[in-house]
Amino acid sequence: MTDPYQPPGKVYLIGAGPGAADLITVRGARLLAQADAVLHDALVTEEMLAYCPQAVKINVGKRCGKKSTAQRFINKLLVNSARKYQTVVRLKGGDPMLFGRADEELHALEEAGIEYKVVPGITAALAAASAVGVPLTRRGVARSVAFFTSSTAPDEPDQAKLPDCDTLVQYMGGREAALTAQRLLEQGRSARTPVVVVENASLPEQRILRLDLRTLQLGLPAASGPVLVMIGEALASRNVALHAQQPVQLLACAR
Ligand SMILES: C[S@@+](CC[C@H](N)C(=O)[O-])C[C@H]1O[C@@H](n2cnc3c(N)ncnc32)[C@H](O)[C@@H]1O
Repeated sequence: MTDPYQPPGKVYLIGAGPGAADLITVRGARLLAQADAVLHDALVTEEMLAYCPQAVKINVGKRCGKKSTAQRFINKLLVNSARKYQTVVRLKGGDPMLFGRADEELHALEEAGIEYKVVPGITAALAAASAVGVPLTRRGVARSVAFFTSSTAPDEPDQAKLPDCDTLVQYMGGREAALTAQRLLEQGRSARTPVVVVENASLPEQRILRLDLRTLQLGLPAASGPVLVMIGEALASRNVALHAQQPVQLLACAR
């Protein structure tokens, strides 16, 4: 039961980082330890939830192809939780301000007059680049990076034109990878452009795949975890297998 006389609590939108429990920020972990309630994404691990044994935990996660909690319902739950608890954490994978529908959640809180703060997190692209030891920029080769997704809202037209940056990182793109490759080839990218795919970046189940745009056209093998597709000449700068210290699957690569 919510008490109509009690002022609402405060909501912290916290970036959980890419998955490994020690990749959340110190600020994020401290707030988790103070939380009365934590609403978290599906990609947040049990190990990270161990930072808030005292809190009521609610999984509001959405995973591609699996049963999802509608965004409107999450917004409502967030507002109701703030009316019931003093410190509410909305724990989101990676950074909350990137491909996380934070705008809708913050809007709902504003409309309800609930105070909030955002705590950044390490976005998956940066964790994936670190995992394979390949910088996304490279002096003289790559000066711009685009984080993009082909995933669209139901009423939004398909974005055929892909960003015109040196390095591209596609979120939520495992299934569209072949189409992405075709479009980039049509837009004039070389078939030999290096591609590195990282699944479950930063987690023990991490998998790395190295290929090029020509082979990406054939699509990607099935993945069970979240996948990032990184494309661009900067990715040719390292021996990915050496750094990652784990087997790197090689799909008949031009180089
Ligand atoms: C809804 S978006 C959320 C992105 C998140 N806000 C961030 O900043 O990383 C989910 C997508 O992020 C990517 N992703 C998240 N965690 C990942 C990980 N550990 N490894 C690879 N990709 C990941 C995948 O492309 C996944 O489909």
